[in-house]
Amino acid sequence: MDNLYPLLQVNNLKTYFATEQGSVTAIDGIDFTVHEGETVGLVGESGCGKSVTSLSVLRLFEEYSGTKIEGEILFEGKNLLNLSVNEMETIRGNRIAMIFQDPMTSLNPVFTVGDQIAESIILHQRLGKKEALARAVDMLKLVGISSPERRIHEYPHQLSGGMRQRVMIAMGLACEPRLLIADEPTTALDVTIQAQILDLILALQKKINMGIILITHDLGVVAEVCSRVMVMYLGQIVEECSVETLFTRPAHPYTIGLIRSIPTLEGNRREPLHMIAGKVPSLQQIPPGCRFAPRCPRADAVCRSKMPGLETVATAHKVRCWHYENPDKRVNSYAGQ
Ligand SMILES: Nc1ncnc2c1ncn2[C@@H]1O[C@H](COP(=O)(O)OP(=O)(O)OP(=O)(O)O)[C@@H](O)[C@H]1O
Ligand SMILES: [Mg+2]
Repeated sequence: MDNLYPLLQVNNLKTYFATEQGSVTAIDGIDFTVHEGETVGLVGESGCGKSVTSLSVLRLFEEYSGTKIEGEILFEGKNLLNLSVNEMETIRGNRIAMIFQDPMTSLNPVFTVGDQIAESIILHQRLGKKEALARAVDMLKLVGISSPERRIHEYPHQLSGGMRQRVMIAMGLACEPRLLIADEPTTALDVTIQAQILDLILALQKKINMGIILITHDLGVVAEVCSRVMVMYLGQIVEECSVETLFTRPAHPYTIGLIRSIPTLEGNRREPLHMIAGKVPSLQQIPPGCRFAPRCPRADAVCRSKMPGLETVATAHKVRCWHYENPDKRVNSYAGQ
C-alpha cells in the first residue's frame, strides 16, 4: 500500500457529544488512512462508533450544538476541520460521497428522485439539466431500478425502502467521488440486490480508483470486498490488519469473538452461535483500563486498570490488548470459505 496515494488520513480524531448527563466522548483518538483504490472495512458491534466516525469525517454534526470534533482529517492533504462551511459543501457529495444507513434521512421528501440525483450532478459536474436527468436515468438503471424514465418523476415516499436505498446509492456514485463512505449500504436490501450493488460499487471503483470505507456488520461481505479492516470497540480502534489476517490470525479477544460469531456453511445452524457475552456499555459508563475488559475472557487486574495502546504486533497488524493472541498462531480456519 505504500506506493498508493493516501486519500484520507485521520489523526487522533475525537468526537464529543453534549448530553443531558454532560459531555461524552464517542470517538476517542482514532487514527487511520485510506489510500486511493482501496476498500477498508470498519466493523464492530452496534454502538461502537462506526457511524459517528464517518459522520465526523464529513463534519455532519455541526448543526447540532454541543458536538465537538478534534484532531486532523486530512483529505487530499487538506485538513477538513479547517475548511469553511462552504468549502466543506463543495467536498461533500462530490469529492467524498456517503451512503447512509437510513435513506430517508438523506433524501428530500419534497423533490422527485430525478431532480435530487440531477441536482447533485449539476452542482458538482456542471452539466445542463437535460444531460443531468439523462445521467440520473442511467444511474438508476445501473443500480437495478426498472422503468427509470418513469421513476425519476416520483417522490421518495412513492418508492419501497429497498428502492430508496438504491436511489441513494445512485446519488452517491453519480458524482464519481474520490472517496466513498458506505454505512451499511446494502443491509436493507435482499441478498441478490446486495450482491449486485456491491458489484456495481466495485466496478466503479476499478474505473475511477476511488477509496472506499465500508461499514458493515457482515463479515462475509468484508471477506469478499475489503483489503484492510479496522475493528472498533467503544470509540476506539482495537485491531487493524489485512482481511486475510483478520480471518486467519485475529489477535484481539474482541475480534476473535466477532469471528467466532459468524455462522459457517458446515456448522449446524441449530446450534447457538458463539456470541460475545454482555453488551457494549453506554458512553456514560466507559470502563477504566481496557474498555473490553468487563466482557473479555482474558482480562486480569492490569486490564481493568490500565488502558493498552494500539501496538504494532506484526507487519501491518495493530492490536490494542495486554494479552493479545500471538499473531504467528493461526486462530481460525475461516479464510477462503
Ligand atoms: N447525536 C448523538 N448524541 C449523543 N450520543 C450519540 C449521538 N450519536 C451517536 N451517539 C452515541 O455514540 C455511540 C456510537 O454510535 P454509532 O451510531 O456510531 O454506532 P454504530 O457503530 O454506527 O452502531 P450501529 O452498528 O448500530 O449503526 C453510541 O453510544 C450512540 O448512542
Ligand atoms: Mg451505525
